[in-house]
Amino acid sequence: KTLKIAVIAGDGIGTEVMPWGIKCLEAAAKVYNLSLSFTSFDFASCAYYKQHGQMLPDDWKDQLSGFDALYFGAVGLPDVVPDHVSLWGSLLQFRREFDQYINLRPCRLMPGVRCPLAGRKPGDIDFWIVRENTEGEYSSIGGKMFPGTEREVVIQETVMTRTGVDRVLKYAFDLAQSRPKKHLTSATKSNGISITMPYWDERVAEMAKGYGEVKVDKFHIDILTAHFVQRPQHFDVVVGSNLFGDILSDLGPACTGTIGIAPSGNINPTGKFPSLFEPVHGSAPDIMGRGIANPVGMIWAGQMMLEHFGYKDAADAMLRAIESVLAKGDDVVITGDMGGKGDTKSFGEAIEREILGS
Ligand code: NAI
Ligand code: MG
Repeated sequence: KTLKIAVIAGDGIGTEVMPWGIKCLEAAAKVYNLSLSFTSFDFASCAYYKQHGQMLPDDWKDQLSGFDALYFGAVGLPDVVPDHVSLWGSLLQFRREFDQYINLRPCRLMPGVRCPLAGRKPGDIDFWIVRENTEGEYSSIGGKMFPGTEREVVIQETVMTRTGVDRVLKYAFDLAQSRPKKHLTSATKSNGISITMPYWDERVAEMAKGYGEVKVDKFHIDILTAHFVQRPQHFDVVVGSNLFGDILSDLGPACTGTIGIAPSGNINPTGKFPSLFEPVHGSAPDIMGRGIANPVGMIWAGQMMLEHFGYKDAADAMLRAIESVLAKGDDVVITGDMGGKGDTKSFGEAIEREILGS
């Protein structure tokens, strides 16, 4: 079977790191005999917007629906197109229309990366954050009344559906079940938020009945953020609502070093629609055009993609290659954001060679 990948490089450094993501995937495909096909699209970029007055063509959904995955760089050039236009007009459309209800991020301390938390070494921090990606606190239900007067009122509702909550919990429990520690932590706030969060807890308890081997605990979001910093080794799989997951999925990777290396998946686990894999970072207009962007986030996102589709050996080899190049920390290979003198090419090439040699 061929894994059909739509390549959307986007803007800024997205276009600079993408070629190295593809080269590393091709290297893994070569070694492990996988069939991957790449098809590039120029939309979802500010250049496309300047030409067409919109971020996406009207038939974008038809153009992309047949793919297994979208491999996405980054979008946004605030001096050219306002961020809410570029982001809402592209990436957020993909997430929504393709029902990518899981946002998945690894939180893993890699060798050779200076950890902002004192005294941690690789192996100490290795967990996944599973964020609900379609409902919860980010609903558009609500409104403003009596604007501009002293009686001004704003209201925005949290929406949790049984289907929406259960499907993200099921994904998180399955993930925990598949890992050696089999430990799931739920982010809650049922002491202060008295209707939706107790409901979330109730669904966690219900789901847990089907996973006898998985050890479950829960923390209120406030103390949970403190635990991320003070005892990150406690965690294995952490699941949270849209808002709590959003906060945790920035805090987690920040606890493990530079933004240039973190990947993320926006996943439709049913396979009915394509899933999207991207680096966490944006288009970095401040360094674009210089060829100095760190390609690891992009490459690691490709690794997540292979893992998601079950190509375990190839995915493991890619992760080992990334780890090994990071561990060597060769000054002329690694990029400036990690303290090196290398560039996108030297870093990408080193990882590609490592994969081919593995
Ligand atoms: P950013 O992630 O683009 O940059 C933040 C800082 O980190 C910058 O100083 C940048 O130089 C540095 N940085 C980021 N990635 C790097 C890499 N791979 N190697 C070395 N340094 C790196 O976030 P920012 O500046 O807030 O946003 C810039 C644009 O990107 C905006 O238009 C924003 O909307 C968009 N954006 C898009 C995202 C996406 O496509 N998923 C995510 C975040 C931002
Ligand atoms: Mg965020």
